[in-house]
Amino acid sequence: ESIRVYAPATVANVACGFDIFGFAVNRPGDEVVLTKKASPGIVIKEITGDEGRLPKEVAKNTAGIAILKYLEFIGQPDQGFELSLHKDMPLGSGLGSSAASAVAGVFAVNELMGKPLSQKELLPFAMEGERVACGSAHADNVGPSLLGGFVVIRSYDPLDIIQLPTPTDLYASIVHPQIEVNTKDARRILEREITLGKTITQMGNVAGLVAGLLTADYDLIGRSLVDVIVEPARSILIPQFQEVKAAALGAGALGCSISGSGPSLFALSKGEETANQVALAMSKAFNSVGIDSESYVSQI
Ligand code: HSE
Repeated sequence: ESIRVYAPATVANVACGFDIFGFAVNRPGDEVVLTKKASPGIVIKEITGDEGRLPKEVAKNTAGIAILKYLEFIGQPDQGFELSLHKDMPLGSGLGSSAASAVAGVFAVNELMGKPLSQKELLPFAMEGERVACGSAHADNVGPSLLGGFVVIRSYDPLDIIQLPTPTDLYASIVHPQIEVNTKDARRILEREITLGKTITQMGNVAGLVAGLLTADYDLIGRSLVDVIVEPARSILIPQFQEVKAAALGAGALGCSISGSGPSLFALSKGEETANQVALAMSKAFNSVGIDSESYVSQI
């Protein structure tokens, strides 16, 4: 018995919502092929698309650990599996690469075990994948990768995840420059204490973004795509950040910020045509200083 599962890339934080907002895109993404085997133990048979960089040791692999924790939880730790992982997205890109693998893995195992858990109940196991990848079990990548669309994590303890509807004409442009940022490092540089003034600004934008999504108010969405806490610290890790952001806004984007922990940037736009032009303008801005990039446009 075997299953093939695809899980999409995600944009976490969405400017103002550090660790609490994320949305899924159509591509890129990761694919897992999981096969039941007669003997106990999980074996990682093959990993492609990672240039040999991901661990084949089950407990260190995001998909492997998610499956392992899941099997322990449902009381079937001796059920054996063979796992193949096909990565179709860059590592360390800020597009939720580790999350997509964990989500595909845990979704696949739940299907092969006869679906004892609901989709939302799979989240804590995928979050364990994030813990091994970067030391923190955040859910703003695994949440949208598993559930789709735009996701809010209202609370981590207890876990409370809400899916938000999005306006039909809302598109994301994502540009991934050929540089790498390690999520663990990008979390370490963040300030531990935030002033009341910044907290108020950030909360206003969080509320504005949710209201904008719910009422399809594109201008409000744009005004709310502001991050005064995380982006100022992390943008220094991304060469050309200000120029690329200015290029996105100049091409008609509603707003632009860092995707996850970077180095990818995302912009939101009204309409696919604008989103395509925004992606092009962002790529050109990276290219003007000799940085190659890949871009993706997706309806949210
Ligand atoms: N919310 C996480 C962070 C996402 O920004 O560190 C990592 O992709």
